[in-house]
Amino acid sequence: MSDKNNEPNWIDHTYDVVVVGAGGAGLRATLGAAQEGLKTACVTKVFPTRSHTVAAQGGIAASLGNMGEDNWRWHMYDTVKGSDWLGDQDSIEYLVREAPKAVYELEHWGMPFSRTEDGKIYQRPFGGMMQNMGKGPPAQRTCAAADRTGHAMLHTLYGQSLRRSAEFFLEYFALDLIMEDGVCRGITAWKLDDGTLHRFRAKTVILATGGYGRTYFSCTSAHTCTGDGNGMVLRAGLPLQDPEFVQFHPTGIYGAGCLITEGARGEGGYLTNSEGERFMERYAPSAKDLASRDVVSRAMTIEIREGRGVGPDKDHIHLHLDHLDPDILADRLPGISESAKIFSGVDVTKEPIPVLPTCHYNMGGIPTNFHGEVVTKKGKNPDAVVSGLMAVGEAACVSVHGGNRLGSNSLIDLVVFGRAAGLRCGELLNASDSQPELAVDAGAESFARLEHFRNASGKSSTADIRLEMQKTMQVHCAVFRTDESLAEGVSKMGDVYASMKDIGVSDRSMVWNTDLVETLELDNLMGNALATMAAAANRKESRGAHASEDHPDRDDKVWMKHTLAWVNNGKVKLGDRPVHTYTLTDDIDYIKPAKRVY
Ligand code: FUM
Repeated sequence: MSDKNNEPNWIDHTYDVVVVGAGGAGLRATLGAAQEGLKTACVTKVFPTRSHTVAAQGGIAASLGNMGEDNWRWHMYDTVKGSDWLGDQDSIEYLVREAPKAVYELEHWGMPFSRTEDGKIYQRPFGGMMQNMGKGPPAQRTCAAADRTGHAMLHTLYGQSLRRSAEFFLEYFALDLIMEDGVCRGITAWKLDDGTLHRFRAKTVILATGGYGRTYFSCTSAHTCTGDGNGMVLRAGLPLQDPEFVQFHPTGIYGAGCLITEGARGEGGYLTNSEGERFMERYAPSAKDLASRDVVSRAMTIEIREGRGVGPDKDHIHLHLDHLDPDILADRLPGISESAKIFSGVDVTKEPIPVLPTCHYNMGGIPTNFHGEVVTKKGKNPDAVVSGLMAVGEAACVSVHGGNRLGSNSLIDLVVFGRAAGLRCGELLNASDSQPELAVDAGAESFARLEHFRNASGKSSTADIRLEMQKTMQVHCAVFRTDESLAEGVSKMGDVYASMKDIGVSDRSMVWNTDLVETLELDNLMGNALATMAAAANRKESRGAHASEDHPDRDDKVWMKHTLAWVNNGKVKLGDRPVHTYTLTDDIDYIKPAKRVY
């Protein structure tokens, strides 16, 4: 809220650590920082247990070996191969070695995992997870709480965070970073239910704001997945990394986009085309329906393009679970059985589910090291740490997923790196140290931006501009890409961005102004969309989820590098950083690039 001179009346807060976002990564970081004795706040636009992690179904990967032999080296090999050698192998080693510890912590905190006969955590097969350094057979590595693993995780972590006296600021919309001389000093935020404006001063800000799936027309992501932290970072003049790598999940429900977990194929489900053929046998003779997601999504798209899609318009694919024991479905896949009924009218025990590859996950995001510290390229140093700023979860690009993430490596990424960020805060910060006052005008630009949109009186609605953006992304930057279509996409996204000048917000109020919230979210989405399209047009090779029809091969000589994308006033500037071609310890050698077959 502002006074009569239209100056903001900031309500000021001071914490050691401020976490933005209360999904799996945000809650784990909040809990971790609080465990370190630091005064910790979590600022979130939705109630924690409504964060998008709640929608994660199939499970969390860790080489526990409860249901067959497994070890972290095999998990590492699969993750590197899944990433199409764009992942940083030091971070990947950290992820897979810490994974079992992070899962046992959740278990001890009360997370209700499904169980084996002898009481151990139940683990199911997932795409691309194999035994024996990729040679197979499939590894049962994905720990599950039926098909509601994310839901179980959120409730566990929220309860534990409260127990540790972390403070929650619920339904506060984070606006911008407060940066002073390249150092992050806090954030600004708008409290949605009473219209007050807040400045949170902190020794460290941890962004855990999730992905930006809502840049696309059809996605499995919640409406809240608007890349807010990424937008804040771009406005602070910092880059995003590898935004062109957008994962399409093979099994979104046709028409609705809701997720049908890969766990469905893990439990024995399979895909068929209009000829009733189990076509994955042709594309991935050994892993078949459990090949990695980019491979399965491409195969489905080819089947549809070549006229073998199902349905009256031959525009989707069938997922069969109807051959599985109904008791197993009820026990292990109850949630998706219900979703299939609600969103496609299908009884999974009798009929196949209509499915289509659907935008699901952003491999790219805010570049960080494996401690969660945000890094950027400064002069000759490609890994320069941005002081006071961290990022974790889907908002971040650490980069363990590289060009393509394996299913169930997301939940483990959330807790391993959320935990790492908390530990790092414990190493770097001291609760008794004071922090300098903020500059008197701190947050002025943020307030000006808020006022700009609140008073916008143009003719285009936020919803119309958002739809244009989503259709442009869907048409020009999906499973398969061409140079021509991407160039057109870059130009169209430029026009969509320009149309923001004519935006009109219907409500001037500061209290529950949902039109204004959606406009600020659109502003965040826009930066992400511009970066994604430009980076995709720039990368002249095929790697992981970036499948270029004009450049069908991976080109390690030229393109084994991370993209960096800065966005300023709608203009994208691109650069790059080297991939880390070294491991964390001598316990495993660098896994050399190889042809990726499943
Ligand atoms: O298919 C799924 O259950 C999704 C899991 C994931 O994206 O990790």
